[in-house]
Amino acid sequence: MGKKLVATGRGGTGKSTFTSLTSRYLPPPIFLIDLDPDQSLAEMLGVNLKEEGVKTISEALYDIIAARKAGAGGSMSVHERIQFLLNTEALYEGNNFDLFVLGTKLTEGCYCAPDAIISGAIPKIIDSYRYVMIDSPAGLEHLNREVVSDIDDLFVILDPSSKSLKHIERIKNITSAIGIKYNHFYLVGNYRFDKDTQKKMEATGEIYLGNIEYDPDLEKYNLSGRSLLDLPEDSPACKSVKKILTKAGLL
Ligand SMILES: Nc1ncnc2c1ncn2[C@@H]1O[C@H](COP(=O)(O)OP(=O)(O)OP(=O)(O)O)[C@@H](O)[C@H]1O
Ligand SMILES: [Mg+2]
Repeated sequence: MGKKLVATGRGGTGKSTFTSLTSRYLPPPIFLIDLDPDQSLAEMLGVNLKEEGVKTISEALYDIIAARKAGAGGSMSVHERIQFLLNTEALYEGNNFDLFVLGTKLTEGCYCAPDAIISGAIPKIIDSYRYVMIDSPAGLEHLNREVVSDIDDLFVILDPSSKSLKHIERIKNITSAIGIKYNHFYLVGNYRFDKDTQKKMEATGEIYLGNIEYDPDLEKYNLSGRSLLDLPEDSPACKSVKKILTKAGLL
């Protein structure tokens, strides 16, 4: 059975960057899930879903509903159509990883249907992959959606603000209140961390895996839409993520 890894944290801390670089080092087969409606993960990995003809889960679901409404649902039940879309329309299959993108919400304020699809699919996915890694949207609200309730490694990507310490507590409180379990709770400092902040993290009593170094190339790649998988092996961010994953016992 595969391991479930989740990257979480406040907005703009570097969750998608960490997920992308992690996918570069974990031994395949890897399954990546982008839960962020901004859908930045695919681009960071150099995947153009439109060009690939791959739909987001929300788009595929929308099409099923639209077809039903138009009386053109075909002979498949909605359940069968959903299974079909998970295996075909909404699945990006790459060389080193496969990918699901949740996409933007269907109805204002409700992600329930696409979420339910992902949570239903995860147990099956886990069987055929070594790792399932989830890139979360900013904030903690999505944790209520119980997309995954049993996590192996929860990576909290932190910026150096004083809110970070409070954020750690909030994650612990919310996961415990809604019954999300994890085997490891890991803190990761982002590219803006300095020595003082690192010391503060080490003093939290949590497992602090280290920080991701500032990387001017990575910044340029993100701005120009170039894949982070093309970063040179000696890039400071790549080296840091490799070190962090080694410390977490994943490499
Ligand atoms: N190691 C790094 N060096 C330089 N810039 C970085 C580094 N890591 C992340 N960044 C920059 O920080 C910004 C935010 O990164 P990223 O999109 O990974 O964060 P996020 O937490 O996924 O954001 P969001 O909450 O919007 O999903 C990006 O512009 C990215 O280029
Ligand atoms: Mg992101």
